[in-house]
Amino acid sequence: MMPGWLVAFLFTLLQLSAGANHSTDVITASEARYLDLDDALTWLGSTVVDDLVPITGPTRQLQQLQQHQQRSATSRTSQRAVEKRCRGTQGSWCVGYNSQPPAPPPRPAPRGNRTCPRNCSGVGNCNHDTGTCDCPAGSQGPDCGSVLLRPCTTHFRHRGDVPAGHIDAEGRDLGLTDEGYTESRCTGICDPVTARCFCDGKYRRVNPPPGSPPGTPAPVRGRPLPNHVCQVSDDGKGNKLEWGQVPWQQIYGPDGWCNSDKPVINCGCMFDGFSGELCDEVTETMCPNQCSGHGECDSGFCKCHAGWYGTDCARKAAGLRTEPGLHETGSRPWLTDTVRVSPEAALAAATTATTATTGAAVAGTTEASSKLAATAAAAAGAAGGGAVARKRPLIYVYDLPPAYNARMLQYRNDRGLCTWRTFGSGNASETFGWTYGLEVLMHEMMLQSEHRTFDPDQADFFYVPVYGSCFIYPVHCYADGPWWHVPSGPRVMHVTNMMLEVRDWIRQHFPFWDRRGGRDHIWLMTHDEGACYAPTEIYNTSILLTHWGRTDPSHTSNTAYTPDNYTQEFLHPQQPGGWLGRIAGHPCYTPGKDLVIPALKLPPHYSASPLLFHPPRHRPTLLFLRGDVGKTRLPNYSRGIRQRLYELGKLHDWRSRYAVLIGDGSDVPGSYSEQLASSRFCVVAPGDGWSARMEDAVLHGCIPVIIMDGVSGVWEEQLALARASVRVREGELEGLPERLAAIPERVVAGMQRRLRRFWHRYAYASHPLLAKQMKEVIKRNVEVWKVRGGGQQQQPHNDDND
Ligand SMILES: *[C@@H]1O[C@H](CO)[C@@H](O)[C@H](O)[C@H]1NC(C)=O
Ligand SMILES: *[C@@H]1O[C@H](CO)[C@@H](O)[C@H](O)[C@H]1NC(C)=O
Ligand SMILES: *[C@@H]1O[C@H](CO)[C@@H](O)[C@H](O)[C@H]1NC(C)=O
Ligand SMILES: *[C@@H]1O[C@H](CO)[C@@H](O)[C@H](O)[C@H]1NC(C)=O
Ligand SMILES: *[C@@H]1O[C@H](CO)[C@@H](O)[C@H](O)[C@H]1NC(C)=O
Ligand SMILES: *[C@@H]1O[C@H](CO)[C@@H](O)[C@H](O)[C@H]1NC(C)=O
Ligand SMILES: *[C@@H]1O[C@H](CO)[C@@H](O)[C@H](O)[C@H]1NC(C)=O
Repeated sequence: MMPGWLVAFLFTLLQLSAGANHSTDVITASEARYLDLDDALTWLGSTVVDDLVPITGPTRQLQQLQQHQQRSATSRTSQRAVEKRCRGTQGSWCVGYNSQPPAPPPRPAPRGNRTCPRNCSGVGNCNHDTGTCDCPAGSQGPDCGSVLLRPCTTHFRHRGDVPAGHIDAEGRDLGLTDEGYTESRCTGICDPVTARCFCDGKYRRVNPPPGSPPGTPAPVRGRPLPNHVCQVSDDGKGNKLEWGQVPWQQIYGPDGWCNSDKPVINCGCMFDGFSGELCDEVTETMCPNQCSGHGECDSGFCKCHAGWYGTDCARKAAGLRTEPGLHETGSRPWLTDTVRVSPEAALAAATTATTATTGAAVAGTTEASSKLAATAAAAAGAAGGGAVARKRPLIYVYDLPPAYNARMLQYRNDRGLCTWRTFGSGNASETFGWTYGLEVLMHEMMLQSEHRTFDPDQADFFYVPVYGSCFIYPVHCYADGPWWHVPSGPRVMHVTNMMLEVRDWIRQHFPFWDRRGGRDHIWLMTHDEGACYAPTEIYNTSILLTHWGRTDPSHTSNTAYTPDNYTQEFLHPQQPGGWLGRIAGHPCYTPGKDLVIPALKLPPHYSASPLLFHPPRHRPTLLFLRGDVGKTRLPNYSRGIRQRLYELGKLHDWRSRYAVLIGDGSDVPGSYSEQLASSRFCVVAPGDGWSARMEDAVLHGCIPVIIMDGVSGVWEEQLALARASVRVREGELEGLPERLAAIPERVVAGMQRRLRRFWHRYAYASHPLLAKQMKEVIKRNVEVWKVRGGGQQQQPHNDDND
C-alpha cells in the first residue's frame, strides 16, 4: 500500500499467516521486544487492503467524497480499525480514504470500434479507440508501413530525421578502423532496428535483406556480442581498433566466442530473450503486464493477438469474441506470477467470452448490460480479476504511442536496465535492483490495479507513463536516435522535450488535459534530480511523483554528472530558443501537489531486517552510512555532505569513540542489510540528487538522520516522521555523534516504535512477483528463528553504491 493505493502489502502478510503458522509463535516465545508484536498481529489480522496517497488539487469526485464523509458517521468499530490502520500517518488522507463509501462498481471496459489504416501492416497494434497504429521498433508511419532504423554508427547526425549509420547491407561496420565512437559500434553484425550487436562468423546473425517490409523477423537470431563487453581490439590483420577491448582471436579465432561451442571467453547473453550458456535458449521477454496474456512480447512491445489492443493488450475491439489469455490456458505457466487483469478489463472479457455482444451492450449503461456485468463480475473475480468492490481514486492510464515507453525497452541493450524484472533460463522470472526500476513497476501496478478505469469520464486521475529514466540511460546517445528533438545536448533536456510532446499528443487525442488544465494528470520522474527539469507548463499544474523532494524555488543543478546538468543551456538550429526557458520558474517538488515516493527496493535488499521477521540485532552501531563518500567525485557531489561526514569521522575518530561507521565498501565491508539492521541511526544524505537512504534506513528499522536542507524526505509530509527521525542542518555536522548519543534511551525507543508503524509504506509488495519474493524472505527469516534466534546466515546484499 505504499504509494498508497497501489501496494496491497497486507495481502502478502495475510498469505503468510495462512501458510507459515509458527512465525508468531516463535516470536512470542522469544524474549525479543524488538518486533512490535501488537503491530505485527494487527497487520496479520487486518482486512483493510490499501490506502490513498494524499492528493490535493481536489477533483469533483474527491470533493463530493469529503462532503459525504462529513455527513455520514462511520460505525465505531470500523472507525477504530481505520484509526489503527492509519497510525503513524499525518493529515486526513488515510482516514479519508479508508472511510469513503464504495466507488461505483466496475463496469466492463468499453470496446472501441474504430479501424486503422491497412491494419497497421500486420506489424503494429490498432488502437480501436483512436483509430491509430502503435508501431514497434523498426516501423513507423500512420500504418506502421515505413521502416524505422536505428543502425550502429560512428557519429551522430547534425540535423534531419534520418539516423546516421555506419554499416553495410548485412550489418557489418563499414570500416572497423575508421575513427569515431558511439556505444553502439559493433565488430560483428549490427541489428539495424535496435542497434544491438551480434556475432559475425559461425554463429553470426542474419538480418532480413534490406528492403524487407517492417517487422520481418531475422532469419537467424545469432549469438549476442554485447557492445560494452566484447568488441574486438584489432581487426585480425594487425590493425589496432581504438574502441574495442578483446583480442580478435578470442572472438573470431577458431575457439573464439563467435565460432566455438567451447569458446575461450564467454561474452554473456545480456539481451532480453537470450539465455543459456551459449545464449541459444529463447526465453520470454519483458513487457508491461506481459501483454495481459493477449499478445506476444517483443522485449517491451506487446504485439497483441488479433483484435486486442492497448499497451498491455487489455481490451478487444467491439463485436469480437474474447478468448482466455495465455496465462489462463496453461500454455505459459511462467506468466501466472506476472499477469494481472484489472477488474474492468476482466469484466469486458468475461462478458463476451460467453455472449457475443454489440458495442452498446458492453458499454454497460443499460439495465440489461448491468445484469450481464453482475454475472460477469463473479466470473471476473473467479478468473483473478480482483475484488469488485473498490474505492476511489479511479485512474485512467494512457496508452501512449510506444515511442515514449515500450520502444524504449526494445532499445535497451541489457535486459537488466530500465526494468525491474524479466525472464531467465527456463522462463523463470528474474528481478533486478535497477535504481530506476520503479518506472516500469509503477506502470505495471497502474495497469493491473483495481483502481484502473477505462472510462476517462469517471476517472479522478490520469497516469502518463513516459519512460524518461530509461531514455536517459541506456537509450540516450547509444546510437543516433531517438532524440527529443535535436541530436546531442544534455540528456535531461530530451526528457523535458519528450514530456511536452506527450502532453501535446494527449491534447490532440483527448479532451482531458484541457478539461482541468492537467491538474489531474500524474507523471513519474525517477531520475536523480527528479522533477527539477520538468517542463514548467506541466509542472505548474500536474502531480509529479519523484524521489527528490528539493523545495527551493530558484535552484541550480547539483549533479556531478555533467550530461545531467539541467542548468546548462543548449542552443541548436532546430531549437534556437534553447530549453532553459521551458523549465524555468518552478521548484523540484511542491508539498501538497507532488509526492516524494520511495525508490524501489526489492525484498532481498532488506532481508536482514527485523521488520521482515529476521531475529533482531542489538544495534551496536550508533550512526551508519555506507556508500559513495565522494572520494573521486566533483566537490558538489552530495552537496559535500558525505565527504564532510567522512572527513570529520576520520579527524575525530568517530569510529572507535562512538561506533560510527561512515565510508564506502572498502572502509565498511560486510553485508549492507545486516549493517543497517545493526545501526541505531542511519544517514540520509543526497547523492547526485536523491539517494535511497531513507528507504534503506526505514526498511531496516534504523532511525533516519536527515541531512539535506530544504529537501523533503520520502513521505515526510504524509507520515509522522518528525517524531521518528532526526533532522540535522548541513552546516551542523560537527559533533553529530555526541548529540545522537545524548538522546535518551526512552526517546530512541519511541522513535523505533513509531518507525515500526509505517515502515511498510516504504516497501513495494503488491505486484504478485514481489509479494512472492517478500514471502520467501520472511519464510527464510522465520526459519532462522526456529533454528535459533539471532542467526547470521543471510546472503549479503551489498548494493549500497548509489
Ligand atoms: C498450524 O499449527 C497447527 C499446530 O501445530 C497445525 O495443526 C496446523 O496444521 C498448522 N497450520 C498450517 C497452515 O501449517
Ligand atoms: C462505434 O461505437 C460508437 C460508440 O459506441 C457508436 O456510436 C457507433 O455507432 C459504432 N460504430 C459502428 C460502425 O459500430
Ligand atoms: C484487418 O483485420 C481484421 C481483423 O483483425 C480483419 O477482419 C480484416 O479483414 C483486416 N483487414 C484488412 C484490410 O486486412
Ligand atoms: C520460454 O518462452 C518462450 C516464449 O514464449 C518459448 O518460446 C520457450 O519455448 C519457452 N521456454 C521454455 C523452457 O518453456
Ligand atoms: C507557472 O506558474 C508560475 C507561478 O504561478 C507563473 O509565474 C508562470 O507564468 C507559470 N508558467 C507557465 C508556463 O505556466
Ligand atoms: C552546470 O552548468 C552550468 C552552466 O555551464 C555551470 O555554471 C554549473 O557549474 C554546472 N553545474 C554543475 C553542478 O556542474
Ligand atoms: C554546489 O552546491 C551548493 C549548495 O547546494 C550551491 O550553492 C553551489 O552553487 C553548487 N555549485 C555548483 C558548481 O553547482
